[in-house]
This record gives sequence, C-alpha cells and structure tokens, in this order.
Amino acid sequence: MKRVDDFRLRLGKKELAPIMTGGMGVDISTAELSLVAARLGGIGHISDAMVPTVSDRRFKTGFVKEKQKKYKYNVANRDKSVVQFDLARLAEATKLHVGRTMEAKQGDGLIFINTMEKLTMGSPRDTLRVRLSAAMDGGIDGITLSAGLHLGSLALVEDHPRFRDVKFGIIVSSLRALLLFLRKSARLNRLPDYIIVEGPLAGGHLGFGMDWAQYDLKAIVDEILRYMRQEGLSIPVIPAGGIFTGTDAVEFLEAGAAAVQVATRFTVTKECGLPDKVKQEYFKANEEDIEVNLISPTGYPMRMLKRSPSIGAGIRPNCEAYGYLLDGNGNCAYIEAYNRELEKNPDEENLSVRDKTCLCTHMRNFDCWTCGHYTYRLKDTSRRLPDGSYQLLTAEHVFKDYLYSTEHKIALPAA
Ligand SMILES: Cc1cc2nc3c(=O)[nH]c(=O)nc-3n(C[C@H](O)[C@H](O)[C@H](O)COP(=O)(O)O)c2cc1C
Repeated sequence: MKRVDDFRLRLGKKELAPIMTGGMGVDISTAELSLVAARLGGIGHISDAMVPTVSDRRFKTGFVKEKQKKYKYNVANRDKSVVQFDLARLAEATKLHVGRTMEAKQGDGLIFINTMEKLTMGSPRDTLRVRLSAAMDGGIDGITLSAGLHLGSLALVEDHPRFRDVKFGIIVSSLRALLLFLRKSARLNRLPDYIIVEGPLAGGHLGFGMDWAQYDLKAIVDEILRYMRQEGLSIPVIPAGGIFTGTDAVEFLEAGAAAVQVATRFTVTKECGLPDKVKQEYFKANEEDIEVNLISPTGYPMRMLKRSPSIGAGIRPNCEAYGYLLDGNGNCAYIEAYNRELEKNPDEENLSVRDKTCLCTHMRNFDCWTCGHYTYRLKDTSRRLPDGSYQLLTAEHVFKDYLYSTEHKIALPAA
C-alpha cells in the first residue's frame, strides 16, 4: 500500500516531499508554519496579504500607524479614493517578511508566497508589481498567483533579474481559467512551473459561484491532466481542497498529480497564526456550523464558520489604516454597504451590515473564521483534554501524518 512519502515532486532540479501547505492570509499560514514544511522537505507557503500589518506584528515596525496617521483627516469621509499605499514602504514590508523567513529556512524544502490579485490596494497594477518584485528581492523560492486570473501579472515583473529563476505557479479552479493564463504566459515564454487546481471544498475564497457544490475536484484535475498530456506539457499539477488524509493524497498522486496542497488540517497546529481560542472554534465546529457566503467584498464566495464575529458586524470602514480591497477608484463593496445602512439608520450606534463585511479589519483581527469544508473533521485529529478543549497539534505531526498514513488513518498526537 502506497504512502505519500513513496512519491516525489520534481520541480526543476529539486526533488521534494509532495506536500505543500497552502497560503492562508492574513498570517494564518505563518512563517513558522511554512518553515516546518520546508524543513521536512516539502513546500510551505507564507502569504503576502496585508504584509505591512503582518510585519508590524512580527517585527514591531510601524507601517500601519504611519499610513493611518497620514490619512487620519479622511476617516469620516465616505470617499476613500485619496488613500494610497506608499510603494517604497510596501516593498520594505514585503522584503522584511520574506527576507527574515528565508534567512530562517532549514532543510531541503522550499518557501513560496501566495499572492492574491484581488488585493487591489487602491492601485492594482503598481501594488502588485511591487509585491511580486519585493518578494523576489527578499529571496523567495516561488510565487503562487492566486485569487484572480492573473492575466497581466507575469508581464509586470518580466524585467526582474529573478523572473526566470523564481518558481511561478497559478491557482485555477477550471481548465478554462488555466487556458487563459497559459496563453498569456506563453507569450512571455514563461510557462508556469506548477499549477494548483483548487476545488470547491477549499478554505478562503472559492473560484466557483454559489453552485460550488456541483463541482468535483477529481473531475477538474482529470480534465486538466488529460489536456496537459494531449498538449505534451509536463507542468506539475497540484490538487487542493478537501484532501484530508494521506490516503486522499495518494489517490490523487496515483492518478497523475505531482503533489497536493493542504491547509485545513494545519489550522489547529501550534504554528498556525490563529489565536488559540479561535483554533478551538475550528475543532468544535460541526458540519452545520460552516457556510459558504457572499459577504467578502471581493465578490468571490467564501467559506467560513457561521459564528465568525465578522458576519453582520457594522464597523466603520478602516481603509485609512488598511484599504487592501480598495479598487483603482477607491471603492470597496463594504463601503457601499456600510454607507447604505448608515443612511437608513443614522442614529444607530451598533450598526449591522449583513451583506458585506470589512474583510481587512476582520481578517487582521482574526474575526473572520474562514475555513475548509472538512473543518468539522478536525475534532477527529486530536484528543479532548480534561477541561473539554482539544489538544493543539504540531505542524510536524500533521505533515508527517500526511506523509506516512495509510487507509485513511489519522494519527493522534502523543497525549
Ligand atoms: C483558514 C484558511 C485561509 C485561507 N486563505 C487563503 C488565502 O489567503 N489565499 C489563498 O489563495 N488560499 C487560501 N486558502 C486556501 C488554501 O491555501 C488551500 O488551497 C485550501 O484550503 C486547501 O484545501 P484544504 O484546506 O481542504 O486542505 C485558505 C484556506 C484556509 C483553510
């Protein structure tokens, strides 16, 4: 009977354990978590979501305070179009986050960064260019392009000296999206080094509509593998979303996948950035406690725990401090929803906005509990402690369970 460890991911000249820990913004997939995956010979993702905030938390820098101070005069203004990121400071924060992580790397694995196109940051092209360039300057091994089609992203950095040496990957949820990306990247003679195929059971934003339940990861992966064979393309294909046991992973590897990307099982590890109290919410969740909704201002459906404090909260938009989802005109769907509710209830102190959420603020405060579909199975991966809480796992334990488990067994942690 095969185990994940019987397979290897070949990426250029490197041979890796075929497990990637997925990017989880904002700092849920911490540097510590990614470093464990790299130390054990796999690939760990950090995320570039809200990096100035993450840097302030990690290194006691003052990027957010500085921006907030600069735009304080605009806080009560409904129009947020003046709010812009200082590109030099954004580069500095990214280089710091990436550079320090790379310095700490041990072992034969790799560290990649997850870069979301939907973080439009008031100036989509400029901020994305800076984030990609700064990650390469900081020494990142690879960049996973996510949350968007990224049709113009590679061209933004084609002149960077590391453009052909850094590994570039794309996350897609359909063959159609992949074909669009491949056409663009072929024009630059820079095909992706790997393709992550994310299915409907993943955490975070979904690349499907609210009809997500009608899609099946296995079917999408098979279609993409068939296409690759037909075209004679040998780019590693990496499924993600709902791969909960080592045996789930082996089934994909035997069908031709090169590796798997996993995330949910790592949300209850010590190295994960969620506060311990929130990790217990993930452990406790039952299937009916999880929903896919449309409250993210990005317009993508997002899966989360129904108890997330972000659902229904009506806080004032915090764009002067954050503003990661402002489009090129300074708009965000939450600002519109908030202003509409404010006009209807001008004297209400505890405003509630149900249809959208201030994702920046709530992700920053770990109040938007986004999660994978199988979060309700996490309780079966640990032990109940005498006080009723669940024992946190280590990332090493979970990683090794993926590597060595057979017959869908899940190893419990030592008591
Ligand atoms: C808590 C959480 C946060 C996530 N955040 C992001 C994100 O910021 N960007 C992204 O591209 N994917 C994100 N994902 C998706 C994961 O990187 C991964 O592809 C997917 O969840 C894998 O499926 P699994 O969680 O069932 O193992 C997130 C997943 C979880 C569980």
